[in-house]
Amino acid sequence: MLTGNLINLRALERDDLERCWTWMNDAEVTQFLAVPQRPISRVEEEKWLENAMTQRDDECVFAITTKDGTHIGNCGLMCIDHVARHAALGIMIGDKDYWGRGYGADAVNVLLRYAFEVLNLNRVYLRVHAYNLRGIRCYEKCGFQHEGRLRQQVYRHGRYWDTLVMGMLREEWESRSDMINATQVA
Ligand SMILES: CC(C)(COP(=O)(O)OP(=O)(O)OC[C@H]1O[C@@H](n2cnc3c(N)ncnc32)[C@H](O)[C@@H]1OP(=O)(O)O)[C@@H](O)C(=O)NCCC(=O)NCCS
Repeated sequence: MLTGNLINLRALERDDLERCWTWMNDAEVTQFLAVPQRPISRVEEEKWLENAMTQRDDECVFAITTKDGTHIGNCGLMCIDHVARHAALGIMIGDKDYWGRGYGADAVNVLLRYAFEVLNLNRVYLRVHAYNLRGIRCYEKCGFQHEGRLRQQVYRHGRYWDTLVMGMLREEWESRSDMINATQVA
C-alpha cells in the first residue's frame, strides 16, 4: 500500500463502481477533467474500471482513501514511458466534502514518490484547465513548475479556456527536503 499523511492509495476494486460512477456524473467534478461533458453510463464506467483494475505497463490507477478507509477519489500515472522515463499524473477527489483540505496534495505527493522512487521516472507532468484554481494551487504547493500554456485548448462553460502544462523533474523532487519523510511507501 502507498501511504501518505492523510490518505492511502490502494488498488481499485469492483465494489468501487457506484462511487466512481456517481463522481463521473457530477458536473461540478467533471468540469475539471478531460472527459466528455455528458452523462456517463454505468456500462461505460464498468469498462473504465475493468481497465483500471488490470495491470498495465503504461498506466497505474489507484483509489484514494482516507486513513479510516473512506474512498474519496482516484488518481494515477498515465502514458508511462519507460525509455524517456516520464508519465502524466491525473487525480480526482470525487467526494467534494474533501476538497480544499489537503487530501489532494497528499495524494499527489504519494504518487510523486511512487513515480520517482519506485518506477524510477525522471519527469512527471500534468495538464490543468486555467479555471481550475484549486488544482493549480495544489500542484504548485507540491512543487510542480509551470511549463507552458495551451491557448484556448478547452471549450467549457460557453467559452474557450487555456490549459496549463505543469511538470516536475526528478532533480526537483530530490531537492525537496520536506519530502524526505513526508510520505512513505510501505
Ligand atoms: C484538484 C484537487 C485534486 C485538489 O485536491 P484538494 O484536496 O482539493 O487540494 P488541496 O486542499 O491539497 O490544495 C488546494 C489548495 O488550493 C487552494 N484553493 C482552493 N480554492 C481555491 C481558489 N478558488 N483559488 C485559489 N486557490 C484555491 C486551497 O486553499 C489550497 O491551498 P493552501 O493549502 O495553500 O491553502 C481536487 O480539488 C479535485 O480533485 N478536484 C476535482 C477534480 C480536479 O480538479 N482534478 C484535477 C484535474 S487537473
